[in-house]
Amino acid sequence: MKITKVQAYQVLDSRGRPTVSASITLDDASVHTARVPSGASTGAHEATELRDAGTALAEKFYGGKSVHIAVANVNSKIAPALIGNDIALESVDQKLNELDPSLSHEVLGANATLAVSLAAAKAEAHSKNQSLARLFSPTGKLLLPMPMVNILSGGAHANRTLDIQDVLVLPHGAKSFSEALSWIVAIRELAAVRGREQGLVTHLVADEGGLGIPFDSIEEACSFVVSCIEELGLKAGSDVSLALDIASTQFFENGRYELVNAKKSFTSQEFVQFISTLVKNQPIISIEDPFAEDDWQSWSAFAAIAPKQLQLLGDDLFTTSPTRLERGIVEKSANAILIKPNQNGLVSDTLRVLESAHAAGFKTVVSARSGETEDSWLADLATGWKAEQIKVGSTHGSERNAKWNRLLELEATEETKFAQPF
Ligand code: PGA
Ligand code: ZN
Repeated sequence: MKITKVQAYQVLDSRGRPTVSASITLDDASVHTARVPSGASTGAHEATELRDAGTALAEKFYGGKSVHIAVANVNSKIAPALIGNDIALESVDQKLNELDPSLSHEVLGANATLAVSLAAAKAEAHSKNQSLARLFSPTGKLLLPMPMVNILSGGAHANRTLDIQDVLVLPHGAKSFSEALSWIVAIRELAAVRGREQGLVTHLVADEGGLGIPFDSIEEACSFVVSCIEELGLKAGSDVSLALDIASTQFFENGRYELVNAKKSFTSQEFVQFISTLVKNQPIISIEDPFAEDDWQSWSAFAAIAPKQLQLLGDDLFTTSPTRLERGIVEKSANAILIKPNQNGLVSDTLRVLESAHAAGFKTVVSARSGETEDSWLADLATGWKAEQIKVGSTHGSERNAKWNRLLELEATEETKFAQPF
């Protein structure tokens, strides 16, 4: 099938900020649309998200965040290069790489390239009469990922109610995806009830749908979630474990880790010790960005002393970049990578990063962003790519539940197996 039209336009994400939507039309008149997400605790090494601030195209009431330059790049630069070609994700991505060879996609904007790349993946799946997940895994059982789900939010997503960004849970004792999800919903709802009873502020729903309950110490926040897990009759550490996203780049200032709510300040070396004690004292099975994005030394120092079963997960550290992952493998900085397609800018290049990670024995967690849309392509990518884990925030907010619901749909309608990465 051939591409007859490529068109982008501006839409809104879950925070009410503009983002890019792109549609590819094929010669059977079918239209394939994809919308891209956007982060708040964005890593310095991510691909470039083009926004209009400081240009003539900036819309006054969007505070510089409109995306008309990226939209125009799709409509006037990308569309003419694709129209008339056969639809295939690989060849579309190759064309996008030719039009903008920069690794960060700063010429066209990664929000423009990813929107087109995702629309191309959906269009190719349609041309083969497959689901998007099946495009990447045409035969055999699809692998439903283990959900890593946000219960408490802090940091940049909840006005710093906690020093760290997320306290999440991994229901690794569940036998199926739907069972895992039911445990999580129960934990989040009980956390809201118990929080309210204890006089904590529970009305704040954070950007990713988690509870913005303030805690001064990270340990207190962890213990609170553990108490909810156990009250439900689940075993912390064997049925459900904690996962933390420390997002420490956000509080790394002048070479020190500054925990404002806890009123503590650490050197890098001290913070390695602090994290080490934290993971010993709590049933934590995964820890993301415990050290800042360029504090490589602390990453390898901690990796050398961390418990073997602990997932040490790089988000801002790797930013889904092949070169940064390569360095992390060589320096043994981590044993897992967060995979965010919009940190990279193209679907097939993102998949290559995931494949390099698997080849090096790393675990992978495909992840949404704090600014999301109702589009559910991430669920299909995680499943078709056999990522084994997925992180999309909490179980509140339709932009989050669109992904959970798509995974439930795949579980109900396709031949699947539930991943057991722990
Ligand atoms: P972000 O947060 O989308 O705001 O970057 C998600 C994360 O840090 O994992
Ligand atoms: Zn993160």
